[in-house]
Amino acid sequence: MVDSLAERRILLGVTGSIAAYKAVEVVRALKQRGADVIVVMTPAATHFVGPMTFSALSGRSVAVEQFPADGQAGEEHLDLARWAEIVAIVPATADIIGKMANGLADDLLSTFLLACEAPCCLAPAMNFRMLRHPAVQANLVRLVERGCRVIEPEYGRLADGEVGEGRLADLDRIVQVIADLADRRHDLDGRRVLVTAGPTVEPIDPVRFISNRSSGKMGYAIAEVARRRGAEVTLISGPTHLPAPAGVTLVRVRTAEEMRQRVWEHLPGQDAVIMAAAVADYRPQQAAVQKIKKREAALTLDLERTTDILSEVAARRPPVLVGFAVETHDGLAYARKKLVEKHLDMVVYNDVTVEGAGFEVDTNIVTLIHRDGREEDLP
Ligand code: CTP
Repeated sequence: MVDSLAERRILLGVTGSIAAYKAVEVVRALKQRGADVIVVMTPAATHFVGPMTFSALSGRSVAVEQFPADGQAGEEHLDLARWAEIVAIVPATADIIGKMANGLADDLLSTFLLACEAPCCLAPAMNFRMLRHPAVQANLVRLVERGCRVIEPEYGRLADGEVGEGRLADLDRIVQVIADLADRRHDLDGRRVLVTAGPTVEPIDPVRFISNRSSGKMGYAIAEVARRRGAEVTLISGPTHLPAPAGVTLVRVRTAEEMRQRVWEHLPGQDAVIMAAAVADYRPQQAAVQKIKKREAALTLDLERTTDILSEVAARRPPVLVGFAVETHDGLAYARKKLVEKHLDMVVYNDVTVEGAGFEVDTNIVTLIHRDGREEDLP
């Protein structure tokens, strides 16, 4: 298979964070995979790494100044905007994030960004106090809503010795996101895909509910990739803290019953249905109208089964139906059984006790079990 980065024109923006030196390795990795890279630095970034380093590695001159001393200025930001097929800002400071979110342009990089319509990702790196500032957070949300991929920073020791969230994401991850953006596959053009995601919540009384640890990340990621590959995507999601993936129709629900109704509404005409939601299997028989007050030493809740949406949908035989199996023991056996009993085309089996898999993390380790008996491990 051809590397998605081969011969792609990537503009790497480097801004003024100490993590700028790590962008050097990103350029190397992109070049090794055959990409053509132009680096644009902000003047602040040049305090951390010299342009010469980037130009030696990229084999192209590095642009910094909007108005160079030789008076040759003018159209460079527009030339670059036409040239770039993918844009990555590594590292991205609070300053460039603020400029991008608000459409400001006062140097070459920010002016270029305003003129460029290519897919974009950015990898923030800053002190955790800056990162959690409401202004920075609001700017990031805005950029995600506009379709910019934010490569979330990691938790760890920061340059100033403090520990917190804000460290530049792992290099492999950054390169992977850039490669994803460069992926030209449009094999889902004209297809319709329905994805369910997140937990459901089942009320006990007006202030309490039963739910589970699903964060929704898996379903949202699937929806985003299906969209990027050309599909028209509907995402039916229980409560999560995730922003809506750009270009995806997001339908928010709370209970299993609401999810069931929305799924039925959107089912006709779907080419693939991917049920990643962690739907409650039981709900309180009756939600109390008023808050339950504590009285006795023990309290018993009577629960009843919810409807299994996946099995109901299976009876309608959509062209492709995928279910998920989250297990803690004897998982493969349960997952294989689910495939047969629920008449699925594929089960994604996920052992949540393994490190790097499970809830609220950005990685997963799964086995894909196909209808024809094939099993694929995705480490
Ligand atoms: N599912 C569903 N509706 C439900 C419950 C589950 O659509 N009421 C779907 C989930 O989205 C997932 C799959 O079914 O794709 C999970 O299968 P299931 O057998 O329900 O797994 P568990 O909920 O873990 O139940 P069990 O205790 O049987 O393992």
